[in-house]
Amino acid sequence: MRATAKAQPNIALIKYWGKRDTGRNLPAVGSISITLADLYTTMSVEFDKSLGADVLVVNGADDSPMLPRVSRCLDTVVGADRAHARIESESNFPIAAGLASSASAFAALAVAADAAAGRENTSAQLASLAGQASGSAARSLLGGFVELKNAGDDIVVSELRGRDDWPLRVVVAVTATGPKPVGSTEAMEVSRNTSPFYERWIEQQDADLDEARVAIAGKDFARLASVAEHNCLKMHSVMWGSRPPMIYWNSTTLACMQTIRELQSADIAVFFTIDAGPQVKAICNPEDEAAVQQALAATPGVEQVLVSGLGQGAAQIKDD
Ligand code: DP6
Repeated sequence: MRATAKAQPNIALIKYWGKRDTGRNLPAVGSISITLADLYTTMSVEFDKSLGADVLVVNGADDSPMLPRVSRCLDTVVGADRAHARIESESNFPIAAGLASSASAFAALAVAADAAAGRENTSAQLASLAGQASGSAARSLLGGFVELKNAGDDIVVSELRGRDDWPLRVVVAVTATGPKPVGSTEAMEVSRNTSPFYERWIEQQDADLDEARVAIAGKDFARLASVAEHNCLKMHSVMWGSRPPMIYWNSTTLACMQTIRELQSADIAVFFTIDAGPQVKAICNPEDEAAVQQALAATPGVEQVLVSGLGQGAAQIKDD
């Protein structure tokens, strides 16, 4: 049977960076994210006994480098004794460039595979299964403000606040669209093994998570802005202090940060966050979206600006 699922990327406000157990892909820290609405990946999975191997097509082209990771995720969700599968994925945003495409891809893959195989895993179980493929994917199973807890032997996600309850907007400044030089999985291990700031990063994470939880519970934008920017810059400091250093920013990334500082000086409630890539994500209130969008679009070097509200999380959309 063939099933199709749709999932959105999520943007971490308190970042996941570092693994406690690489075999089971357990994170070394908890994290908090917002799930997007308007950027998405659709994923179809069809198990077919006549196939001699899994086949992966991403945005219309064969993608063999990603295939082993995708096949492993199917084994995790459905069992290694499964039939081979034809997997087709389409994203409406640049992939592999620090826009959390692995989060939406593996969240959608877990949901589609589960449905195609007639399994009936709960969202919590699917989050745990998707998280074994990519930690951030676990958060895309849910909508709104999502926390991933670093506790016990499993990946546990929960919704801290619904998307309609605090409908923030996200403006993404795309500053380069090529694939990133080092993937997150590898980069996290380099950080753990070499960065002198890694231990302090881990030690301080609970305080940042507490602060963000309080800010989200009270819809306190300034408080969330302050802790999210701090947490993002700390994660990048860990990366910069690694050997070899991992510098995902380009000069336009810095120009966008400067644009956001200027908006803040003009009393616009906005803050930035940046993941393992050069894109800058600006979070703001709906009434300021147009001003933020215009300012980032006018920043020299910005290639494209994407806007999104908060979304609902991964779901099956078709079953044929
Ligand atoms: C910087 O989830 O891509 O986006 O578990 O190895 O697949 P793996 O890592 P991944 O890492 C995401 C890192 C980040 C921060 C975040 O999303 O929390």
